[in-house]
Amino acid sequence: MDLTLRVWRQKDARSAGRLETLEARGIEPDASFLEMLDLVNERLIVDGKEPIAFDHDCREGICGTCGLMINGVAHGPQPATTTCQLHMRHFKDGDEITVEPWRAQAFPILKDLVVDRSAFDRIIQAGGFISASTGSAPDANAIPVPKDAADLAMDAAACIGCGACVAACPNASAMLFTAAKVSHLGLLPQGQPERNMRVIRMVEQMDAEGFGGCTNIGECSAVCPKEISMDFIAQMNRDLLRAGLFAGRKSTSGGAGTG
Ligand code: SF4
Ligand code: FES
Repeated sequence: MDLTLRVWRQKDARSAGRLETLEARGIEPDASFLEMLDLVNERLIVDGKEPIAFDHDCREGICGTCGLMINGVAHGPQPATTTCQLHMRHFKDGDEITVEPWRAQAFPILKDLVVDRSAFDRIIQAGGFISASTGSAPDANAIPVPKDAADLAMDAAACIGCGACVAACPNASAMLFTAAKVSHLGLLPQGQPERNMRVIRMVEQMDAEGFGGCTNIGECSAVCPKEISMDFIAQMNRDLLRAGLFAGRKSTSGGAGTG
């Protein structure tokens, strides 16, 4: 396959960016999208030019490191598929493909297609953990968990933190990511002691990072490679309301904490 790429090139966070036209020649249909970019980069290096910077790690759809806006769609045209698992057979010989980074104020561009997603790390640091020791694996397995709660928690835990939900949302909202991370802990018995504190702190951090609010558009879930359901956003909103009521009750009776 011979393709024409329009790739976002940006020297660093302070420089202005632009779309650069590059040719990708002799691409196998079974190559992945990132392998296609590798071949383009090899050519650029041979020609003494700067290769395209892009994020990747596992290339197996499990780490959440990759993520490109391909023809305006986060992770490209194949549903439930990360950029690294997208293959060139989903494109046609002669296609023109526009490749851009995630665009959101809270994800500043570092170089070319690489953005800074550390805002997600800070949301997790704010409360996405269980501080009590749950013991070794056999001890943890001794805690009974209802099957439906375990299944739902696993669904939420499938989030790989790629950021496609933010990139696709016209509000650049991080509600789907935050909701998945709040819910997978809040559904389990081990997550109960910090449930109220967790949702309040994580939502506060999400707002502080500059992500927008959710207006139920649904683009987040549509592009999510792990098909995280928007039901988790509703679940997080319920948790937040409950935590707020609990915090209010405690403060009127002289308490201060929410945990
Ligand atoms: S919710 Fe989906 S799109 Fe958003 S970070 Fe998690 S895996 Fe990526
Ligand atoms: S590189 Fe790990 S999910 Fe794509």
